[in-house]
Amino acid sequence: MTGLSQAEIRDRAAELGPWFHNIDLGGVPTAPDHFLNDYPNVKWRRFQHAIPEDLTGRTVLDIGCNAGFYSIEMKRRGADRVLGVDFDDRYLEQARFAAEVKGADIEFRKLSVYDVADLGERFDIVLFMGVLYHLRHPLLALDLIHDHVAGDLMIYQSMQRGSPEEPPVRADYDFFEQDHFDAPGYPKLHFIEHEYAGDWTNWWAPNAACSAAMLRSSGFEILEHPEEEVFVCRVTERPKPWGAVYPARPKTNGAGRGAA
Ligand SMILES: C[S@@+](CC[C@H](N)C(=O)[O-])C[C@H]1O[C@@H](n2cnc3c(N)ncnc32)[C@H](O)[C@@H]1O
Repeated sequence: MTGLSQAEIRDRAAELGPWFHNIDLGGVPTAPDHFLNDYPNVKWRRFQHAIPEDLTGRTVLDIGCNAGFYSIEMKRRGADRVLGVDFDDRYLEQARFAAEVKGADIEFRKLSVYDVADLGERFDIVLFMGVLYHLRHPLLALDLIHDHVAGDLMIYQSMQRGSPEEPPVRADYDFFEQDHFDAPGYPKLHFIEHEYAGDWTNWWAPNAACSAAMLRSSGFEILEHPEEEVFVCRVTERPKPWGAVYPARPKTNGAGRGAA
């Protein structure tokens, strides 16, 4: 804990605002009027049971850490090292202040998810919460996390819209079969050209099946789906070996790169 009085914490929190994370800093709530209520506490309560309670000896990378709510929770569970990264300086300042007030030894660094390879390190637990739908290139981000920083568990969350169903999808369909594309539970990533909820940084809204399919496709085995938007995954082999690079198809029967 810092030696700051409650009044000093309140003043500094106000200076650093507005906050997306509502964190209790010595009796001062940082975002008491959050449109999702006590966020992300309300979310965390719904899936915290699915994360190992004792993280002693583990390393954690929190991508898109914002004001550090989840980084602080991971440290509270005893993680040896927690690194929070975000691309927004204002959020990083909030995170550093929140961790200082909480007495949590956490490193925060400015880094885009697209640059995670620069870390040169894999982490036992990677949190990738609430970021995917803010990215113009979401599958690239998942591939990069898989290929460069995810060591064991990956905790994913996304805003989702559309059907919550996840019916099985066949491995292939005939070219003239099309009905499945209109089935509500078929993986769909809705593109937001302009804004959603007044926020132009919302680029995509996957349905639940799409979140699951993208995770599998990037090489994440889904272990648990403890909450509608949250998937607990383990790093595994990617079903197709390539990630960001689209390979030339092998020439077969003179067909070159294929018909379509
Ligand atoms: C909706 S908030 C989610 C915050 C937190 N992870 C959570 O689940 O509550 C999205 C966060 O992602 C960050 N972000 C957006 N694009 C990013 C990028 N390319 N690399 C790293 N962080 C990014 C934003 O600055 C913001 O802090």
